[in-house]
Amino acid sequence: MRVLVTGGAGYIGSHTLLQILQERHEALVFDNFSNSSPEALRRVRRLTNVDFQVTNGDVRDEDALLRAMRSFRPEAIVHFAGLKSVGESNSQPLEYYSQNVVGTIKLLRAMEQTGCGTIVFSSSATVYGEARYLPYDESHPSQPTNPYGRTKHFIEKVISDWVASRPEFTAVVLRYFNPVGAHPSGLIGEHPSGTPNNLVPYITQVAAGRLARLRIYGNDYPTRDGTGERDYIHVEDLARAHVAALDYASRFSGCEAINVGTGRGATVLEMIREIEAASGRKVPYEIVARREGDIATSIADVRKAERLLGWKAQYGIAEMCRSAWHWQSRNPNGYDSSHGPENHGALLEEVS
Ligand code: NAD
Ligand code: WQD
Repeated sequence: MRVLVTGGAGYIGSHTLLQILQERHEALVFDNFSNSSPEALRRVRRLTNVDFQVTNGDVRDEDALLRAMRSFRPEAIVHFAGLKSVGESNSQPLEYYSQNVVGTIKLLRAMEQTGCGTIVFSSSATVYGEARYLPYDESHPSQPTNPYGRTKHFIEKVISDWVASRPEFTAVVLRYFNPVGAHPSGLIGEHPSGTPNNLVPYITQVAAGRLARLRIYGNDYPTRDGTGERDYIHVEDLARAHVAALDYASRFSGCEAINVGTGRGATVLEMIREIEAASGRKVPYEIVARREGDIATSIADVRKAERLLGWKAQYGIAEMCRSAWHWQSRNPNGYDSSHGPENHGALLEEVS
């Protein structure tokens, strides 16, 4: 199958691209590198030894999308491109609506114009908001509590209306829980810009001595040890869910939203212990006030993924933390250790 991967140079995109190529699909990456490095693509090429095309473009640039799609003629799109920081979405809501919602509308329009009717979309468990019950199943009410989550909620609605407009359109909307970890090679992984907001990259940077200590946002939640509990999912399992979704979409028509998690939760203290075990280092921490907008527990009901996609997570938190540490220790500055952002131009020429 020919697959266009928007945002394919990013954290989840690069891991998924690798598996798409390993499944012998052809791929075109469409990315503006606003939050990624072409070095990730160079490493995917090194790991797979398979060639793929790369277009440097913004999904809101309909002409660039049309040009890329007319020449590549994708049979399916995996759509990762977008902004993903909850905090930033509070201070720059219009940027989030523009990149995420407008970007997706432009993409769907280009798909209509070029006869491509299949999309796998990166949604998020954040669409659910405060839990009315747990685990979250896909029918749980969607009441996101921040602009980022609302962009995902609105995009889901746009996609479902788009699919309903024509029988040949198909969408699989994957609602990721908390993606962590890295490829076992330690060659690709998560490269947060600046100080990480998310727990695992923060802890690995503390273990590496780059940050002094973790601040645990509250230990008075109604959980096993009082700290927040999340359904962490290994990025390798998540990537495999996309390959399963592409396969499912080739056999089905309609629009389905599907949770991607493990169905099990881990607390902040449990994640600290796993990174300590993986790294052999102590992770200093202090307890501070709860972070605004945080919830106590988030856990996925994963039965639908198993039923429709035949997919189930294989890795537990020990493997997630081991691979996260392996990536961090091999690449202390992420992709910038070998090639700083000033080299993006040359690298881009090399991978394009
Ligand atoms: P990422 O920032 O690493 O990857 C996003 C990629 O899209 C980057 O390569 C970036 O350069 C590119 N991009 C951004 N805006 C673009 C635009 N307008 N045009 C073209 N390319 C653009 O993020 P990620 O963690 O890999 O997330 C991928 C997707 O999954 C996002 O849509 C995100 O909202 C969603 N998601 C992520 C998480 C998570 O915790 N990482 C959880 C749930 C959902
Ligand atoms: C996990 C736990 C924190 C950092 C976010 C987005 C969500 C999705 C995934 C995109 C919580 C605690 C964290 C720290 C801490 N992204 N924590 N100290 O908030 O579950 O989800 O990423 O779709 O939309 O909201 O993930 O990794 O930030 O936090 O104590 O320095 O770790 O309170 O309990 P979260 P997280």
